[in-house]
Amino acid sequence: MYFSALARTMAAAFALCASAALHAGEVEVLHYWTSGGEAKSVAELKDMMGKRGHTWKDFTVTGGGGQNAMAVLKQRVLAGNAPAAANIKGPAIQEWAELNVLTNLDAMASFEKWDEALPKVVADQMKYKGRYVAVPVNVHRVNWLWANSAVLKKAGVAALPKTYDEFFAAADKIKAAGFIPVAHGGQDWQDFTVFESVVLGVGGTALYDKALVKLDRAAMTSDEMKKSLEIFRRIKSYTDANSNGRDWNVTTEMVINGKAGFQFMGDWAKGEFLAAGQTPGKEFTCSAAPGTANAYTFNVDSFAMFQLKSWEAQKAQGYLAYLLMGKEFQEKFNLRKGSIPVRLGMNMEKFDDCAKTSSKDFVATSASGALVPSVAHGMALSSSQQAAMRAAVSEFWNNDKLSVSEAVAKLVAVSAPKQK
Ligand code: GAL
Repeated sequence: MYFSALARTMAAAFALCASAALHAGEVEVLHYWTSGGEAKSVAELKDMMGKRGHTWKDFTVTGGGGQNAMAVLKQRVLAGNAPAAANIKGPAIQEWAELNVLTNLDAMASFEKWDEALPKVVADQMKYKGRYVAVPVNVHRVNWLWANSAVLKKAGVAALPKTYDEFFAAADKIKAAGFIPVAHGGQDWQDFTVFESVVLGVGGTALYDKALVKLDRAAMTSDEMKKSLEIFRRIKSYTDANSNGRDWNVTTEMVINGKAGFQFMGDWAKGEFLAAGQTPGKEFTCSAAPGTANAYTFNVDSFAMFQLKSWEAQKAQGYLAYLLMGKEFQEKFNLRKGSIPVRLGMNMEKFDDCAKTSSKDFVATSASGALVPSVAHGMALSSSQQAAMRAAVSEFWNNDKLSVSEAVAKLVAVSAPKQK
């Protein structure tokens, strides 16, 4: 059995790696972490692999959200030339595992007690038919609103907006003061990042879960959904004319350098503020997107491990898997990435207030049931469903002539396969 042979290989590789890098290998890793903050985070990993004598081979495909990377990965795997690891998330892990191209990490997972070290919701996503095939590195919170403190002060915005009424009042003041109220990058995954935060803010986790995760027709056609679309469209009127196609990190830069007041984005944006030498609570602030303080959209970056032929490559891959779940990596990487460690029971002392809030809210919402998967970031739907939903939402964002009812009809139509 291929699986059990691989399990033995992984266990042996792990035993070797844990002692010393007697036989170092090369590990090729597909990722899309190319922005300033992301590059600094991944450098930590390269460095840690290098210290064990393994060679890191970067397989980077630019493009926020990873859609380009997934397309390139498909070509490589179909050509029989898979990398050792690839940043694949959520249900897509299952899609790859079904093709029987991923390796079984169970030997290491049980030796290292991954089941105990991870929240169950995350561990389940890493497994295919009960076996680990991927390793998680972090938890990103998506429902954040970033703000430039100086811009808000100059515009006379005294408090961070907790509701959409407050948000639009603040946006008006920022506009009147001569700044761009909302920095936005017009790419479908960024449009959806804003959209899902609005749905969460307007209808809470109940609407979010029913309409966006379960694709329930009644929820999708509800008044709350229509209100969400109206607010989403109104947000657009506070963005600048050049947003079309803009990369997310270039968008964050507009907030960093004081051109814009706000950005709706997950906390990888914090990695950019930090890389620019800024401090949360001083030059910039993080707050939950309006209406979402008691909810949490999670996005877990993880590396799926592919079946490899060479023994050296398998050993380097085994060490990578071991390293990713280790406390040292989880701390160093997440301090730069903007996310929090996915490993439970980590000491958060070195982390900033945004990360501490995220960590506290992750625990609280997983207890209250208000922890929901980010649809924009591939945590909830199949790749094809997600792409169809994204396209429908972006069409609405880009085409002002499309009415709210037409947008609702499109969302219902594209999500039809999952309907009850
Ligand atoms: C997310 C990913 C993050 C970050 C961001 C921008 O989907 O989980 O790690 O890279 O996209 O590319």
